[in-house]
Amino acid sequence: MASNSMNSFSPDKPFVYQHSIMHPELQRLLEDNFNMVQPAQVEEYRDKISAIFCFVAPPVRVELIASFPNLKVVGNCAVGYEHVDVKACFERGIRVGYTPNVLNAATADMGWALLLAAARRVVDGDKISRDPSTEHFELNSFGFQVSGTTLGIIGMGRIGLEFAKRAMGFDMKLLYYNRSKYSKEIEESLNATYTPNLDDLLCQSDYVVLLAPSTPETHHMMSSPQFKVMKRSSIFVNIARGKLVDQDALVAALRDGTIAGAGLDVTDPEPLPRDHPLLTLHNVTLTPHTGSATLHTRAGMVQMTINNIWAALKGQEMVNEVKSS
Ligand code: GLV
Repeated sequence: MASNSMNSFSPDKPFVYQHSIMHPELQRLLEDNFNMVQPAQVEEYRDKISAIFCFVAPPVRVELIASFPNLKVVGNCAVGYEHVDVKACFERGIRVGYTPNVLNAATADMGWALLLAAARRVVDGDKISRDPSTEHFELNSFGFQVSGTTLGIIGMGRIGLEFAKRAMGFDMKLLYYNRSKYSKEIEESLNATYTPNLDDLLCQSDYVVLLAPSTPETHHMMSSPQFKVMKRSSIFVNIARGKLVDQDALVAALRDGTIAGAGLDVTDPEPLPRDHPLLTLHNVTLTPHTGSATLHTRAGMVQMTINNIWAALKGQEMVNEVKSS
């Protein structure tokens, strides 16, 4: 919870609108730097607000941007910024900061946690282990082999490379689909093969991991035709954004055995409506968009956001600035 009260505001600190809430320890970091204006206080401080602090939700829409007459910067504490109306910001000369790189390792780790949990039925196993009616452990509750299988990464950017590095420890063959091909040296160091045709990756992979950015081009890039190409024994992992997947098609593919399972850190919307069919499927492992959610990584993201906001307010170069919408 935000702890600022109107009394603790300092005239020397910039006024920053808190659009997303933060863990209390990280909130302290924000409040050491800024007067963090809460939604309930906004009317009183509207004219003073020069920055918005946001996370991946809620969206930063044009109406919010337009409501602050002295806004200079949006400090987006995330690598993805599709939830920020960047075009509306640029039209008013408002700068937008974001937080790439600092979360690569944590997000790759979480992708692996989901892949392994989905493959080896960790959530089912946990339930069986705790269930008061369990008298003996079934010997036939098989999961899927991970070591020595084939991994397909869709979108091998900064996080994808971290994900790929970890696959080496599982002796996996790696295929990747990406806007560009890496050098021979990088490919050899990762045992990676470029597949310019997505279907080639989909039909050969035992695990398909989605790590592409959310753009109009990638919207629903995974839909029925793509799931149909995948192996029936394959597992699909999404650690990117829910909008990249046609969720109805994914539900159908999981229901009728077109694919064996899924591990999803992201959905569309988040959270899913409580009666959504994905929540009823036993072959899905879900996490609540926690790719970067370690205190260490989130502290790095918040500090980078603070640095971005300060730089913009001082008219300096930002650590990481969004350059085009
Ligand atoms: C998390 O999803 C991020 O974009 O940082």
